[in-house]
Amino acid sequence: MCPPDHFEVAYEINPWMHTEVAVDGDLARAQWERLVSALTEAGAVIEWLSPVRGLPDLVFTANAGLVDGHVYVPARFKNPERQPETEHDTAWFLDHQFTVKPLPEGLVLEGAGDALPFAARGRPPVLVAGYRIRSDVRAHAVVSRLLGVAVRSVELVDPRLYHLDLAFCPLDARRALVVWAAFDHYGRKVVADLVPEPIELLPEEAFAFVGNSVVVGDVIIMPTCPVRVGRLLEGAGFSIEVCDVSEFIKAGGACRCLTLALDVRLSLG
Ligand code: ARG
Repeated sequence: MCPPDHFEVAYEINPWMHTEVAVDGDLARAQWERLVSALTEAGAVIEWLSPVRGLPDLVFTANAGLVDGHVYVPARFKNPERQPETEHDTAWFLDHQFTVKPLPEGLVLEGAGDALPFAARGRPPVLVAGYRIRSDVRAHAVVSRLLGVAVRSVELVDPRLYHLDLAFCPLDARRALVVWAAFDHYGRKVVADLVPEPIELLPEEAFAFVGNSVVVGDVIIMPTCPVRVGRLLEGAGFSIEVCDVSEFIKAGGACRCLTLALDVRLSLG
């Protein structure tokens, strides 16, 4: 995670961002610290990326890249505003003894924001990867080769759900939160074939960033939790921790976007 020292809405690169809407810096800091506590209490161990002046979206570490064991594939950001982040992200991973495997230039892929592993019981993990709005489908074959993992490409069709992690949230070996309307017909089929027990989120729930939740064991840390969804999740044995991150939603990101999982193992080796 990266502290929000320099977080603000300084440009508009997704439909949620409006530069005329001010961010309350103190509130953002308090919300972020509360998220840190909730994650820690759930059992997560957090590593820190230093904030950098002029890179307000660096807090959204989900987009830093893809992690598989000690291999790191740096993101290639679509928008010039975020491209300078990669140098800082890569420095962190080199510092922490990761092997860096860059994507070829010219291919865009926004890290774990657009690619999430799902491992159905008894089957090798599959990387579900979103494309069109922020990532190139052509990057998926390269990722598959670099990491030795099967990739299922799903097209994202709603600009408001511009990253996969706003529409798809793996929960365990059977379940994931899924916003069907975020995908085209084929993408819906891919997800339905992969996830044995999808839990549907309605579009209005997705637009409240309910899908952008972090799972730590059986705790789900969510930006908000509609009663309907809470009942389903508690019935499935999860406990829910709500962390309001309203200031970050002004930039189009919530709980999950503010984190990058480092304990990911995709390849079988
Ligand atoms: N303002 C950031 C952007 O548009 C938000 C990133 C949200 N990250 C995510 N993983 N969905 O790039």
